[in-house]
Amino acid sequence: MESAPASELFREVFGRFATGVAVVTSSGPGGSGGMTANSLCSLSLEPLLSLVCFDNQARTLPIVRETGRFAVNILSTEQEDLARVFASKIPETEKLENVAHRLEHGVPIIEGSIAWAACKLRELVAGGDHTIAIGEVVGLGLGQGQPLLWFAGRYHLWPELE
Ligand SMILES: Cc1cc2nc3c(=O)[nH]c(=O)nc-3n(C[C@H](O)[C@H](O)[C@H](O)COP(=O)(O)O)c2cc1C
Repeated sequence: MESAPASELFREVFGRFATGVAVVTSSGPGGSGGMTANSLCSLSLEPLLSLVCFDNQARTLPIVRETGRFAVNILSTEQEDLARVFASKIPETEKLENVAHRLEHGVPIIEGSIAWAACKLRELVAGGDHTIAIGEVVGLGLGQGQPLLWFAGRYHLWPELE
């Protein structure tokens, strides 16, 4: 039987897959919340689907489960502080309270994001200690700015990698 590689190496290997940074938000009668995320992607063009992988411990997951909706807010280089807040475990209700946002299609869209997608939850798929949320895209928008990047366990600004 093959022995499993160490999880630190796993993190290091996939940490070299440079990504943008997003905040996935959701809001419902039970409250609102959001988390910094990079394990997301577009999934299908016909129909328009996207997916986000949630740690089963993420407090945003039960909100998405309850409301059946989530938004993907793609962050700009100006929003690194915001990324840190949404990656933290401060009380969930406080996360959006101090951030300028508006509701579109029933989901919180963060002001200053370089792009966003509003999604209606279609399916939750178990994946180890994570859950894959597949969403039907019901709204899209574009903002301005350059993308905040994540590589090798830290944030980077766009020109650094050029
Ligand atoms: C750059 C970055 C990317 C992250 N990506 C994810 C992700 O894709 N899925 C996830 O569940 N957590 C991810 N996290 C961790 C969550 O942001 C963190 O656990 C957060 O506290 C969850 O918030 P919540 O418990 O309020 O939902 C990421 C953190 C960082 C800094």
